[in-house]
Amino acid sequence: MENQLKKQRNSFTSSIGFVLAAAGSAVGLGNIWRFPYLAAKDGGGLFLFVYLILALTFGFALLITEVAIGRKTQESPLTAYKKINSRWGFLGIFSFVVPFIIYPYYCVIGGWVMKYMFTYLAFQGPAAVQDGFFGGFITAQWQPILYAAIFAILCFVIVYKGVEHGIERYSKILMPILAVIVVFIAVYSLFIKHTDADGVTRTGLQGAAIYFIPDFSGLTVQKLFTVVLDAMGQLFYSLSIAMGIMVAYGSYMKKDVNLGKSINQIEIFDTGIALLAGMMIIPAVFAFSGKDAMSAGPGLMFITLPKVFDSLGKFGDFIGLIFFVMVMFAALTSAVSILEAITSSMMDKFKWSRKKSVLVMAGTTFVLSIIVCLGYNVFYFDLKLPNGSVGQILDIFDYASNNILMPIVGFLTCILIGWVAKPKTVIEEVTLNGEKFGRKTLYVIMIKFVAPVLLFVILLTGFGVFQ
Ligand code: PHE
Repeated sequence: MENQLKKQRNSFTSSIGFVLAAAGSAVGLGNIWRFPYLAAKDGGGLFLFVYLILALTFGFALLITEVAIGRKTQESPLTAYKKINSRWGFLGIFSFVVPFIIYPYYCVIGGWVMKYMFTYLAFQGPAAVQDGFFGGFITAQWQPILYAAIFAILCFVIVYKGVEHGIERYSKILMPILAVIVVFIAVYSLFIKHTDADGVTRTGLQGAAIYFIPDFSGLTVQKLFTVVLDAMGQLFYSLSIAMGIMVAYGSYMKKDVNLGKSINQIEIFDTGIALLAGMMIIPAVFAFSGKDAMSAGPGLMFITLPKVFDSLGKFGDFIGLIFFVMVMFAALTSAVSILEAITSSMMDKFKWSRKKSVLVMAGTTFVLSIIVCLGYNVFYFDLKLPNGSVGQILDIFDYASNNILMPIVGFLTCILIGWVAKPKTVIEEVTLNGEKFGRKTLYVIMIKFVAPVLLFVILLTGFGVFQ
């Protein structure tokens, strides 16, 4: 009866469905190339230690807050904040804008991953290590747009199918496969042994030691500050917080699911995959190219790793293929979550159907994707960003969202929940069915005091204050 009166909101059918979909969003390119790269740069075990502490405190508080806001209001980001407090509707607009900016360039990077996947699929692995392969590809005029389009169409199809038959179903298939592949390559990586042209032999195990054992040499307060900042920024991005996604996914969570427990599982999944990605990449790159190669940053995945695969011979082509298939899955489930956040916002705000919403959103964002691709040729320019780096259109989108808008959304969410609506808003939702809220006192301290201060520092860093 009620069903006929009130249109039921889409929902995840099971708690594991929700956890895998949210983990699918959280586990993305950030875990696979950014986390290992930061760990290598920031003293291995030292970074890991700081990251874990922050994940259990700061990350946990923000993640549980967003999911609880979604489940409590049963609304997507654009309209949810207004329901918490009628004067805070503007925060909804901010958290709609973030995924709207991220999605176009995430599809472009998804397209790059796709290009590599097809290259390995066509047994062209050796071509991928030629100088200029990556640069040549991204600066070409049509290819990057074509690959971004293929990637965007896949996301479109999944979101079009809805929460249960699209997002939940695909996450349940892709995430376990991803986890198995990561474990397989991580273990394989430990057994690598390589002697380079100068006769120096390095092993994967030595690389793993660099990764796990904290390196305190030359540690200064300044350096520790950088490590903490890096870990915080990474965590924030890695858990997909402050971009409306967890609010949208929370709104599809059934009321009888244990929210606190699900949050723990998402955190364990996301952090576990990040740690394993480090175990997979650091020993391999170390064995083949030494410690300095680790600082290749973004180029690590597209330039350095293909070289590693190449030196493994035929078997390397196979490893390369499954590696890029795995990265593809990770990128796809993340991109789907971004598209869902903006699609559901249109559905709730304008009462459009899912089909219409996803068509309009996928269409408009694809125009932006094209502009991002053209940023490497037709619209090429170098812009110096406030944090000192130099970038093209993609970097500007990335910078505006990650370094400026996301810290603002995170900070304002803390003020809204910590001070305006009060932490009880979230606590009530978490303990709805009489569940225990573990770390409750910690939560209150984090959301009121610690998290807003940390987010404010991230924001200042974004503006280049600590340069
Ligand atoms: N959390 C994802 C990662 O770690 C990144 C992401 C960004 C996901 C934006 C969704 C939206 O890579």
